[in-house]
Amino acid sequence: MKIMEIEGNRELSGTIRISGAKNATVALIPAAILTDEEATICNIPEITDTEALCDILKELNVDVKRASESIIINPKNMQNIEIDEKYSKKLRASYYFMGALLGKYKKAVLYFPGGCSIGARPIDLHLKGFEALGATVTNEKNKYIVEAKELKGANIYLDIASVGATINIMLAAVKAKGTTVIDNAAKEPEIVNVATFLNNMGARISGAGTSTIKIEGVDYLHKCFHEVIPDRIEAGTYIIIGALCGKNIKVDNIIPEHIDSLLSKLEEIGTDVEVGADYVLISKSDHYKSTNIKTLVYPGFPTDLQQPFSVLLTQCEGKSKVTETIFENRFMHIPYLKDLGADVTVKNQTATIIGPSKLKGTSVVATDLRAGASMVAAGLLAEGKTTITNAEHILRGYEQIVEKLTSVGAKISIKEI
Ligand code: UD1
Repeated sequence: MKIMEIEGNRELSGTIRISGAKNATVALIPAAILTDEEATICNIPEITDTEALCDILKELNVDVKRASESIIINPKNMQNIEIDEKYSKKLRASYYFMGALLGKYKKAVLYFPGGCSIGARPIDLHLKGFEALGATVTNEKNKYIVEAKELKGANIYLDIASVGATINIMLAAVKAKGTTVIDNAAKEPEIVNVATFLNNMGARISGAGTSTIKIEGVDYLHKCFHEVIPDRIEAGTYIIIGALCGKNIKVDNIIPEHIDSLLSKLEEIGTDVEVGADYVLISKSDHYKSTNIKTLVYPGFPTDLQQPFSVLLTQCEGKSKVTETIFENRFMHIPYLKDLGADVTVKNQTATIIGPSKLKGTSVVATDLRAGASMVAAGLLAEGKTTITNAEHILRGYEQIVEKLTSVGAKISIKEI
């Protein structure tokens, strides 16, 4: 287990460069097997989720080379074998191998994915999509065998605008016969990034980033070069940290439009923030006004920033409300926020936060990735020492978090026990 220690209540200043987006990377790596040629992807973040996917590629006998921030994937000698449960349960995104293997070989054998325990997180919409394309799904306990004689384009309506289902169906449909239309598709920027990658390889996908995506099947995908977009959730997390303890914190290499909902909320509470073409400059203000947030699919307020933002709400004057509409179990950070001194009550899917509260360091737990990020934000603000156990969750999604925060003046370390 990893433990993170933070000496809080320090003023942070300097520049933090944002890495490539985790949620794009984890789909791009499986997508790369759809060609038999080499795919080079740059701006790949060095996070444990990337490593876990490379381990799966190696299991499938795919040649993987890492060079600084790039990855070169060559599936020329690939074998389609059953992916062991120990790999799939390491992360949620292992499910993208279902769509990619089905699209390439018409057969995928995988186990139910792992990832953060923030709700039931079923994969029924992914499977329904595969079935609509002509696949049959056999399920034995946690194991899924998805296979098809032939994949044929279909009209697929998603009951929920699911990020995972949208990308997975895109991966399965890209080489299917005929045209697939996904209606009520998710619109997240990571989906656009994956569609661009596939199009660079010769796919014919239009409408990514809107709620209707059209995929005209092609026979062949070729080699390509691609760049991962900046991580809007990592950016948002550091921007929130800047609002909590920053003095001219520059969060650099970002696409500000991707975090419009966060920037609007920051403006509403009275944050001192300057938005540039590819950066945000932010400092802590003396007073913040309370506000309410409700998590929604993109371009709404992202559920992945709900937990870090709730830390900022503890510093707002009066009553704020956080309503989580995407996942059933995303308030696991709240008991620890209370241990740190916050005044929070949770009823059903809404947390009510009364501020401002003075936070004091104590022992807390990173119950999942973004809960962990919220504990880092709270620890940096709190007076004294905060110890975060299960900190390995944080490393799944934040590249060099200790180094990045140390470079702006934080006292933070991580150790294995
Ligand atoms: C992705 C992101 C995650 C983010 C989430 C919402 C990755 C690897 N993870 O997760 O960081 O928090 O989007 O922006 O990109 N659902 C079903 N059936 C399905 C699929 C989803 O009921 O087959 C439900 C989920 O339980 C959830 C909602 O739909 O309540 C949205 O989930 P989805 O968009 O699929 O999230 P993930 O792809 O798991």
